[in-house]
Amino acid sequence: MAKTKTTFFCQNCGYQSTKWLGKCPACGEWNTFVEEVVSKKDDKKHGVKKGEKKSKPVLISQISAEKEERIDTGSGELNRVLGGGLVSGSVVLIGGEPGIGKSTLLLQTALNMKGLRILYVTGEESQQQIKMRADRIGVQNDNCFILNETFTTDIFKQIDAVEPDLLIIDSIQTLYTDTLESSPGSISQIRETTGELMRFAKTTQVPVLLIGHITKEGNLAGPKVLEHMVDTVLQFEGDRHYGFRILRSMKNRFGSTSELGIFEMHTGGLREVNNPSEVLLSQRDEPASGVAIAAMIEGQRPMLIETQALVTSAAYGTPQRSSTGFDLRRLNMLLAVLEKRSGFKLGTKDVFLNIAGGIRVGDPAIDLAVVAAILSSLEDIAMENNICFAAEVGLSGEIRAVTHIENRIMEADKLGFEKIIVSKFNLKGIDTKHYRIKVAGINKIEDLLQELFG
Ligand code: TYD
Ligand code: MG
Repeated sequence: MAKTKTTFFCQNCGYQSTKWLGKCPACGEWNTFVEEVVSKKDDKKHGVKKGEKKSKPVLISQISAEKEERIDTGSGELNRVLGGGLVSGSVVLIGGEPGIGKSTLLLQTALNMKGLRILYVTGEESQQQIKMRADRIGVQNDNCFILNETFTTDIFKQIDAVEPDLLIIDSIQTLYTDTLESSPGSISQIRETTGELMRFAKTTQVPVLLIGHITKEGNLAGPKVLEHMVDTVLQFEGDRHYGFRILRSMKNRFGSTSELGIFEMHTGGLREVNNPSEVLLSQRDEPASGVAIAAMIEGQRPMLIETQALVTSAAYGTPQRSSTGFDLRRLNMLLAVLEKRSGFKLGTKDVFLNIAGGIRVGDPAIDLAVVAAILSSLEDIAMENNICFAAEVGLSGEIRAVTHIENRIMEADKLGFEKIIVSKFNLKGIDTKHYRIKVAGINKIEDLLQELFG
């Protein structure tokens, strides 16, 4: 009998090592290595038989440069995030926390795509559960098949029988292939089953939508390699306790990643929100002092985030400074700048700062919002709630330019803000006229006061 071959995989990023390691050299996480059996039982190829196309070399001059055909998904928001519809033969991964509505989104999409044969494979729920969900959504479709299966060889057999025009897999973490001995959901299984589905999509031109779970840290559970393999990665997010959901593109081989789609979960499935400011205004109440919104970038993703400050007279001799989600030393520096350069008496004040949503922010572009929140609390004047900020504050009180300013402006514009305050130096080379939002460039903290309180 052949010796079983095992490899250690980092469960965080998919880094592979022949021996166990305490710390992953690729992503720096501790204790993430797990041993997985990788010996392949045989090399027999599974799936992909019918309609298989072999690729041949073609002269580049003879390749037609027609744009890929897009399949309308029946949802304007989903089409937009995909870059204008679903591309034939593409593999799209939709990630999100459990319970956020991934299955609902894809089932609803499947039901709304009339005229295509759709195979929805679920490894998570029974056919009855899917039927109940379809009844809630309340859309009829006579071409949508539901299969409850997790073994890829059997899935491919059913694909041969149904011959779908679109394949949906819920979820990739439940699938397994018998070419590997490791358990479903392990890094090597996820990689292998995704590989099989990729080969299927590329050889038959049938698009595949995959659902993937997300870890506590907000990464796609399973390896980063999964993200590298597929054509498009979408992330579905939102607070489970509120109805709004945002679908973002994190990677797209066929479109831009700056688009986002907004949905609202209600009792009959997801409703598209075509006018984002409607969401924003209904979600936020009266303007309050000490609150400012920052237009941030986390990784590739622009997002608007609320910073809250409370400035009060210190009860004890030494004022307290406390901060959640923002570096305390940086807060102290900003307070010193305000004191020294602009003459605000903060030395005798307690200052508390909180970044909403429990997020830790490293992006220096949040500085200006922090300063604005502090000043608003100090003076006890509320700001209009349609203003946001994106700039760094330097030691001499100067307002500095930040990266990806256009992404920030676009996101704020898309979310319905009316004014964004940025550094004057960021305005060079950007055409503020394409945006509905008013872009104000400022130089120093005094200009901020002028913009805010007139
Ligand atoms: P689900 O699609 O099962 O989430 P995921 O696949 O991402 O785990 O959605 C689960 C939540 O959505 C659940 O809490 C119920 C809610 N829901 C509605 O509010 N309205 C609906 O019409 C449906 C189908 C679900
Ligand atoms: Mg689900």
